[in-house]
Amino acid sequence: MIQGLPGFRDFFPEDCARRNHVVATWREVSRRYGFVEFDGPALESTDLYRKKNEAGAEILEQLYSFTDRGGREVALRPEMTPTLARMVAAREKHYRKPMKWFCVSNFFRHERQQKGRLREFLQFNADILGESSPQADAEIIALAIDLLRAFGFTAEHFVVRLSDRKAWMDFLQSRGCDEAACRTALACADKLEREPEEKLNAKLAATGLTVADLKAFIAAGSPEAFAPVLEALAARGLTGFVQPDLSIVRGLAYYTGVVFEIFDRSKNLRALAGGGRYDGLVKGLSDGAADLPAIGFGMGDVVLGHLIDETPAAAEKLQAALALTSDVFVVIADESRRAEALQIVQTCRELGLSTDFPLKSAKVGKQFQEAENLGATHAVVIGQEWPQIKLKHLATRAEQTLDHAALAPTLKTYKLHS
Ligand code: HAM
Repeated sequence: MIQGLPGFRDFFPEDCARRNHVVATWREVSRRYGFVEFDGPALESTDLYRKKNEAGAEILEQLYSFTDRGGREVALRPEMTPTLARMVAAREKHYRKPMKWFCVSNFFRHERQQKGRLREFLQFNADILGESSPQADAEIIALAIDLLRAFGFTAEHFVVRLSDRKAWMDFLQSRGCDEAACRTALACADKLEREPEEKLNAKLAATGLTVADLKAFIAAGSPEAFAPVLEALAARGLTGFVQPDLSIVRGLAYYTGVVFEIFDRSKNLRALAGGGRYDGLVKGLSDGAADLPAIGFGMGDVVLGHLIDETPAAAEKLQAALALTSDVFVVIADESRRAEALQIVQTCRELGLSTDFPLKSAKVGKQFQEAENLGATHAVVIGQEWPQIKLKHLATRAEQTLDHAALAPTLKTYKLHS
């Protein structure tokens, strides 16, 4: 039997229902924040990812890239930010600033498959373009926090670790690092928690720095870098969700200012979300044709799904969203009335009611069981009494007999799904 590929997921109906809950929550909170949705293509020219990255950058090594039938070098998108920068550079004059855009799309990275990391995943992105102030930074971070709160998480469950690439660059340049040395030092800082000290010190040798120097910089902090963002978050009552932490540097090359990653408090999982300011990317990718400051973040569905399952309040919210509900189940008590029953099914559906019925002859008890399985609030029973029919409220068992012509006006007055 042919198996699905490792790191790629099948979505059975229950998985789609979960995904719909996640996507609906992302969209609802984005709407509250005044973001509008966009999307781009799943396939891009490989150059889009090469242009702002050094050879050997992690994201380039994870590309699903190939030569297409027209001889073009193409790649499945591993992230949205380069596509967004490309699209915005081409059309930015059409839009008022600041642009507040979000998307929900699938991405592909040839990563080692592990808990929280797959090879195809869904990622929410939100970005503000055309505004360089810390107010925009705070707006993006507040959105990330409120997205997670909407799933039922509190400050007990997650934390935004806030850092600043510019503070890092200032420090490294003050220690005499040139561009290449800065890149090496940042790559090492990104791996402090994951790689042994001797290995990192060997990599750092050419920069004149040591692991101890990087750790000292992190420990000293950089309060002045974070003050305006923290103030704007405090005014929104969100202080408890954020922790300045210079050990966050982010793996992607294009960040220029505030950067952040969101983790579960128990530190069991990979990052839930990550992002930051990237003021040079639109300019760099468009060879100067457009120049817009930007900040944004991405939040995947995989780690989020693990944290939902591990957090009772969030899991309950998910279960409530997954409960099957429908309005009407048409019970065919007399098979010779199937044509009339179909007429009623059609009428209910035209009224906008979610309506089901048995596709083949079945015992009445079994049909009521099915109505309950589907979460129907009402049953309409078509039997020998036609043109009289029965309308039953399934939760209370209250029932009334009425002429079939009176059904539509009666149902219209009901608030169904209750
Ligand atoms: P990123 O840190 O690479 O940033 O990804 C953001 C989030 O996407 C991660 O925290 C994680 O939740 C999810 N994610 C990433 N890779 C995988 C994977 N292999 N499997 C499952 N989930 C994954 C970016 O992608 C930036 N482009 C975000 C951004 C937007 N920066 C500015 N604007």
